[in-house]
Amino acid sequence: MAFPRSRPRRLRRTPALRAMVRETSLRPEQLVLPMFIGEGQDGPVPIEAMPGVVRHTVDGAVQAAREAAAAGVGGVMLFGIPLHKDHEGSGAWDDDQVVQRASREIRAQVDGLTVGADLCLCEYTDHGHCGLLDDHGHVLNDPSLELLSRAAVSQAAAGAEVLYPSDMMDGRIGAVRDALDAAGHQDVVLVAHSGKLASSYYGPFREAAGSTPAFGDRRSYQMDPANGDEAIREARQDVEEGADMIMVKPAGPALDLVRRTREAVDVPVAAYQVSGEYSMIKAGAAAGYVDEALVSMESLLAIRRAGASVIATYFAVDVARRLQG
Ligand code: PBG
Ligand code: ZN
Repeated sequence: MAFPRSRPRRLRRTPALRAMVRETSLRPEQLVLPMFIGEGQDGPVPIEAMPGVVRHTVDGAVQAAREAAAAGVGGVMLFGIPLHKDHEGSGAWDDDQVVQRASREIRAQVDGLTVGADLCLCEYTDHGHCGLLDDHGHVLNDPSLELLSRAAVSQAAAGAEVLYPSDMMDGRIGAVRDALDAAGHQDVVLVAHSGKLASSYYGPFREAAGSTPAFGDRRSYQMDPANGDEAIREARQDVEEGADMIMVKPAGPALDLVRRTREAVDVPVAAYQVSGEYSMIKAGAAAGYVDEALVSMESLLAIRRAGASVIATYFAVDVARRLQG
């Protein structure tokens, strides 16, 4: 039917009509808050490139999780920054490291929120890469799986209910799933970063996590941002290996991959609105160019519209509060 019979503006006339036909919604419980926890701090340490985001102490992280839960946020994703890093990243499976301690405390003290942890080695290695290196600085795949598995079991034992493997080693979902099962953690949810691009949007995060690679870059394990078919192949493979959800990362610059992943696999899709996406909105708002509340909300709605069920975002608490009214 064509104009003048069809007048799409009829459905846009009043707020009630617009609400009635609104296709996409955003609920606080669909949001996950990434949080940084530093070892050996007296108090919160601001992250310059991410205004409003800090490196918490363990106690601060528990308090922040409590506030996130009160705002209705669905979960947290914990990143740990240890004082001492080594070649293997052994802090990742230290039961007394900050992520493990915070997981235990949040599980014990905060209700109604899912405790998750990033699963990777780069915050714990002295070279800043996501896996073990050989003598030539090449990131070794299979030996890294063993270390990731240890970290996963330690995190699960500490109470993490969801693990977010972000390392991009081949076969990690299967290896981690086997290790979790063998240790009696069959119910731990694995959110595989399958479409994780070697993105420049991670810049501010590397300041936050102190995980800038000491040499080289991550292009031998993260995906070329020019590729999409590859992300779909990897997503299918990760589902076969035991992933419960697939994560696309970054989110806004890869909305096509959110949509394609959603259509290719029948597990829920998550998307990570990463540090650079956050910082750019913050900077634009601070300069007075865009409205932070409106643009952050629209960016998250777009990610939902593309097909994400779950969104990790540093705006989680602010947006959740606004959604609660
Ligand atoms: C590392 C990791 C990164 C992010 C999450 N996990 C950075 C990287 O791969 O270099 C980025 C998150 C963000 O930018 O907010 N495994
Ligand atoms: Zn990493």
